Amino acid sequence: MKTIIEPFRIKVVEPLRRTTRAEREKLLAAAHFNPFLLHADDVLIDLLTDSGTSAMSQNQWAGIMRGDESYAGSESYWRLKREVVDLTGYAEFIPTHQGRAAERILFSLLGGPGKTVIANTHFDTTRANVEQSGARAVDCPCPDAKDLDAAAPFKGNMDLGGLLREIEAAGPGNVGVVVLTVTNNSGGGQPVSMANARAVREICRDSGIPFFLDACRFAENAWFIREREDGYADKTIREIAREMFGLADGCTFSAKKDAFVNMGGFLALNDSEGALEARNLLILTEGFPTYGGMAGRDLEAMAIGLREICDHDYMEYRIASTRYLCRGLEERGVPTLKPAGGHAAYVDARRTLPHIPLARFPGQAVVNALYLIGGVRAVEIGTVMFGEHAQHDLVRLALPRRVYTQSHIDYVLEVFEELVATAPELPGYEMTYEPRVLRHFTAHFEPVPIEA
Ligand code: F0G
Repeated sequence: MKTIIEPFRIKVVEPLRRTTRAEREKLLAAAHFNPFLLHADDVLIDLLTDSGTSAMSQNQWAGIMRGDESYAGSESYWRLKREVVDLTGYAEFIPTHQGRAAERILFSLLGGPGKTVIANTHFDTTRANVEQSGARAVDCPCPDAKDLDAAAPFKGNMDLGGLLREIEAAGPGNVGVVVLTVTNNSGGGQPVSMANARAVREICRDSGIPFFLDACRFAENAWFIREREDGYADKTIREIAREMFGLADGCTFSAKKDAFVNMGGFLALNDSEGALEARNLLILTEGFPTYGGMAGRDLEAMAIGLREICDHDYMEYRIASTRYLCRGLEERGVPTLKPAGGHAAYVDARRTLPHIPLARFPGQAVVNALYLIGGVRAVEIGTVMFGEHAQHDLVRLALPRRVYTQSHIDYVLEVFEELVATAPELPGYEMTYEPRVLRHFTAHFEPVPIEA
């Protein structure tokens, strides 16, 4: 087979600024050894997130010009609503400025004190919004998810036995909602199978519990189903996505992922009474129901992005790019979570830097070394993010969509070569400032030398 190429060519470019190692040492110290606090133009290759960082197409930019900025009843709203209803099948569509705003509304309605929310794995903002409502967030990842090396096809799945046990322990009436995150971001960008989603739906239906998707990366998830699950090889991404949406009662969506936009999201659901209440909350903080937290032009770009993400050639290239990065890391002796996920490679920091104890944050050590060696920015998903509950210390290299080429990725792999060569000398970190919520975003650190 021939090389899978980018199914686009480049019309507009954004220059990158190179820095020296000496400059980066000063810049990282000024950012308190937390790359979230760097100025972005001091970063050469930014793999912090695939969220809101994608490149829009010429059609999306053309749509931006067509955006209708009417306060109420904007044509762009109606266009996007048609697109969302057609894709998801949910009757009610509520635009929000990003995913977490949809989460806040959903959990205000279905969470609250005394309630439990169960997910395959809550993303950090999802967990924070559940807990902010007064509810308890419980993760039930499938057993394969704990084993970084297990090459299971659907490591994003919900543990069905665990789900049943948690429902029984809480009492079905106290479970506000069950959430399937597709793909499972905190679990390594791993897909959820249709069979698993179907089983979750059966359990929820039997117990009278609402079932929602956190659908940020629904199209990447659909691609894996097409590749790996019996009966889907001849279906389109859109058909598979539709089938999965159809199993749930609604979804929250961050359009910053699988809709290629820089800002946007929505809540969609079947329940029209719930939607009425959701719109009342929306008006308080997001805006009038036909724009939510978005400009008309952003609604327009999202409508177009939702179609483009379902393109076969695009998704084949997308998943091939992620696999290329993961394979390159393995070839250089960098242990990663297997198999490659949809939007990112996840490096196992504990095995990369075995001399650094967990209390000295091996993931943060990898992240900071990547910046110092090559100006590459990644994010820790481990003890810094989750505290002592972290099962692993991973470093996520997220790939923005349609942004970096193969030579950018080759450069990142060279940076890793140097990291591996100097690993025993790398310091650990001490947290010198700890914010109350979502501490990884703004925490401060100081390096601490570790005897290898
Ligand atoms: N759910 C999942 C699975 C996510 O990955 C994210 C965001 C959200 C919800 C929240 O969406 O940012 O639009 O409010 N993930 C980004 C990331 C931030 O880097 O993975 P948002």
